[in-house]
Amino acid sequence: MDVDHEVSNPSTHDSFQEVLGRRLSRRTVMVGGLATAALGFLGTSTVSAGSTGLATAAESLAARGPANVARRRPRIDFTSIARNFGPAPTIAPEYQWSVLIPWREKLDGSGTSFPYGLTSDEQAASIGIGHDGMWYFGDDKRGMLCINHEFGTTPHVIGKAAPTTLEDVRVMQHAHGVSVVRVKRTSAGWKLDGNKRNRRIHVNTPVVFSGPAATSPLLQNPAGNPTLGTLNNCANGYTPWGTYLTCEENFNGYFGRRSGGANTRELDRYGLSANGFGYAWHLFDDRFDLSNPAYANEPNRFGWVVEIDPERPGSPPVKRTALGRVKHEGSTFVEGRGGRAVVYSGDDERFDYIYRYVSTGNWKSMRARGISPLDDGTLYVARFADDGTGEWLELSPANPALADKAIDWILVNTRLAADIVGATRMDRPEWITVGADGEVYCTLTNNSQRGSTGTIAGTVPPEPRPGATAANPLAPNPDGHIIRWTDADRHTGTTFEWDIFLISRDVADAEGQMYGSPDGIWADRDGRIFIQTDGSQPGGANDQMLVADAETGAVKRLFTGVAGCEVTGITVTPNRRTMFVNLQHPGDGNPTLTNFPDPFTGATGAVPRDATIVITRTDGKVIGR
Ligand code: FEO
Ligand code: CA
Ligand code: CA
Repeated sequence: MDVDHEVSNPSTHDSFQEVLGRRLSRRTVMVGGLATAALGFLGTSTVSAGSTGLATAAESLAARGPANVARRRPRIDFTSIARNFGPAPTIAPEYQWSVLIPWREKLDGSGTSFPYGLTSDEQAASIGIGHDGMWYFGDDKRGMLCINHEFGTTPHVIGKAAPTTLEDVRVMQHAHGVSVVRVKRTSAGWKLDGNKRNRRIHVNTPVVFSGPAATSPLLQNPAGNPTLGTLNNCANGYTPWGTYLTCEENFNGYFGRRSGGANTRELDRYGLSANGFGYAWHLFDDRFDLSNPAYANEPNRFGWVVEIDPERPGSPPVKRTALGRVKHEGSTFVEGRGGRAVVYSGDDERFDYIYRYVSTGNWKSMRARGISPLDDGTLYVARFADDGTGEWLELSPANPALADKAIDWILVNTRLAADIVGATRMDRPEWITVGADGEVYCTLTNNSQRGSTGTIAGTVPPEPRPGATAANPLAPNPDGHIIRWTDADRHTGTTFEWDIFLISRDVADAEGQMYGSPDGIWADRDGRIFIQTDGSQPGGANDQMLVADAETGAVKRLFTGVAGCEVTGITVTPNRRTMFVNLQHPGDGNPTLTNFPDPFTGATGAVPRDATIVITRTDGKVIGR
């Protein structure tokens, strides 16, 4: 189905008009104010004709909260490029790109890759697939790059519709996880550097649990099997003490039932099912068999934020239970008032929630006392009111609504706890970033089910799907939007004020609507908001990366990926003159669409490989200008 056409449904427009009076976004209005400016080749975005109509309602606004923030004005001078439908990336003429660490490149720094059809041992010694969130720890010439490998489909990874041996499963398991690699700038561009700190973390790597639920029976199995692995590592975070945070998202899809049995309420709420996403690991690996009572709590071991130290290759990844168990999209760290560690995280599911963790004390003094700032703190979930205010609801037994629940139950079954306290059901919360002026931005990628008949999957008792609300104003919402807020008390208060930054379908250039399904997002310190997409783009164009002005909401297209890929992951060197982004699942693994990063020759060419893209300006200036 072409979701672009869903927005012409009159009922969509009506539902949106209903919420106009409840919450109008000054920000979107200012995009409309640019509508008369003719800028550049295709030009900076404008509000398109027939859009939500917010622009014409400008003067009636009751501007509150975030709208009053004084924002920096970034320079965004590059030439916005056309849409792309082809097998190779495109980039603004002031920029250039190159390829780094494609799937299967060896960690040894030889610059060579294992051939397609590699063994599980070879996969564990080389770059995984499904490049996603990442972070660069280093100077302007060399450093450690930590990169998530979210997923690869079975046909893409092993060239079969389904695994037929345990070795097939192991190859796939070792293609998932995280790579930690040294990279350096050379005269021939950025390269992987052979280094003793290089390592792969995958589904069978020993991991440890920490925090309030670490010793919970809910994390133990009758089999007594050790805690192993990280899975479906989507977006990420990092800490000021130099560690990487990798986030486990759609872990449910890897479990299945070999021999029947029924789900518990908890398994339902996390979307576990008899066949999962079709990976069929459960047919060969008991850990992933929901019908095996010896491994009853194995699903509880996934869905966490996992801390990795790139400088200590012998240190195990640590699952931080204080941050709760959901389908964590990412985990965005910011230092709050009093030096407290604050981490924001979205739970990417239709009608799921936005979370925030606040450490008990100053992160530096906690570390000085030998306490992880990610182990001792309070988890909250967001409620967005229609009047532009909001509230962080505490997820602990201190909240009267959860007084009868133990903290380990709350942290393992975080979604159910958030249901109980009455959090706001959002349109698939994806990445979160903190802007130059302290505002927090969250992409809400889309929600085809908002306002539709039926119930929310996994809810007990079944809960009807909500319609439009001020914070999620489109029903259905095929193209998504970006919400932002300012927390009271510098990220530590229990209230906030919010507005909507961009509604995807309202952002257009000469070719029409510019993008849909915003996913990756990163704010630089000058007021630029980098937006990456994952999903159906207007006109069937390739996924892309755009740059928005936080103050005006004006948008330009900087980079486009190849057919069938998603553009995700974003990190820069300290001088911001080198940016790393990722092309995930180029061609969806289909060589008739692209052979990326090889030149396109069609079906006779190579199976496409997920890879990191290095972006620089030809004049060497800051990325985004
Ligand atoms: Fe892995 Fe929600 O994207
Ligand atoms: Ca994502
Ligand atoms: Ca995604």
